[in-house]
Amino acid sequence: MNIEWGKLPFGYYKTEYNVRCYYRNGAWGEIEISSSEYIPIHMAATCLHYGQEAFEGMKAFMGKDGKVRLFRWDENWKRICNSAKGVMMPTVPKELFESMVKKAIKMNSKFVPPYGSGASLYIRPLLIGSGARVGVHPADEYLLVIFVTPVGPYFKEGFKPVKVQIVRDYDRAAPLGTGHIKVGGNYAAGLIATERAHDEGYSTVLFLDAKEKKYIDEAGPANFFGIRGNSYITPDSHSVLPSITNMSLRQIAADLGMNVERRHVPVEELSTFEEAGACGTAAVISPISEIVDRDTNTHYVFRKDGKVGPVCTKMYERLLAIQTGDYPDNHGWVDLVEI
Ligand code: PLP
Ligand code: COI
Repeated sequence: MNIEWGKLPFGYYKTEYNVRCYYRNGAWGEIEISSSEYIPIHMAATCLHYGQEAFEGMKAFMGKDGKVRLFRWDENWKRICNSAKGVMMPTVPKELFESMVKKAIKMNSKFVPPYGSGASLYIRPLLIGSGARVGVHPADEYLLVIFVTPVGPYFKEGFKPVKVQIVRDYDRAAPLGTGHIKVGGNYAAGLIATERAHDEGYSTVLFLDAKEKKYIDEAGPANFFGIRGNSYITPDSHSVLPSITNMSLRQIAADLGMNVERRHVPVEELSTFEEAGACGTAAVISPISEIVDRDTNTHYVFRKDGKVGPVCTKMYERLLAIQTGDYPDNHGWVDLVEI
């Protein structure tokens, strides 16, 4: 194994094992360990036809002390249960989720990137309707599979400012739809706009609220926040995914003595922000240097010097320090995983 940890992108890298569990006849079965990257699946499975599926993303980090720290897995467990309910799948018992996540890390412990490499181990739970249906109904069988893969930064820039594009001709989620849960259909809905944004020179898209197109919702793969003076400001919207990173940053902002505002954020307010960022497990904090409104051609420039702002830097450093064990875990976010 000869991985250049510092050069890893955010992508799939094969590890040795994944863990699986089936839900059949109304009950979860035994945890299975597999070394296959494939899942046998019925061609009429509901996940394939009707989008009955949900997924999660969390990270584990190697500390300076050689211990592996898993960040806020219990929040990911709560969210996968909410997602499951939202598309009529069975929820996952907490002990089962914990045991599968930790087993997946332990069995692939050699893939946990070293401390200081800038990479981490990404853990991807996937819950799918595996039972066959042709009419539109929930399946009678489900599969939870958890794999891990070592990853680097989501945007190729790493912790460098990215450019983002506001679009109005596509929505990722309907006002009363599934934006608040982590289901595959939301990402499918955003693909055209996101690929077009890449082609036009942007790292990702910033979606607006689907009803009025007045307020910022979130970026394709991450929440949005702005910094003005001593305030951390982030959109509140039913169609935004409740990001665990954003939740953590709101606490970190408060810890740093900042005011936290979670409310509707009108597009025009962008012109008042001194810094802005996209935040998520994959994106961590991706500072935003400029947001361009594709329709009005308005340019909101946050950092003319092309550098990362001081507040984003401070928050990024604090978050990472907690995740790697370099800063005290005052909020109980980190769980040591025996490897
Ligand atoms: N928003 C969307 C649409 C996402 O896919 C993600 C990633 O999970 C996030 C926000 C960030 O959420 P979290 O911080 O829990 O990873
Ligand atoms: C994450 O941040 O974990 C995500 O799932 C974002 C993206 C890869 C979909």
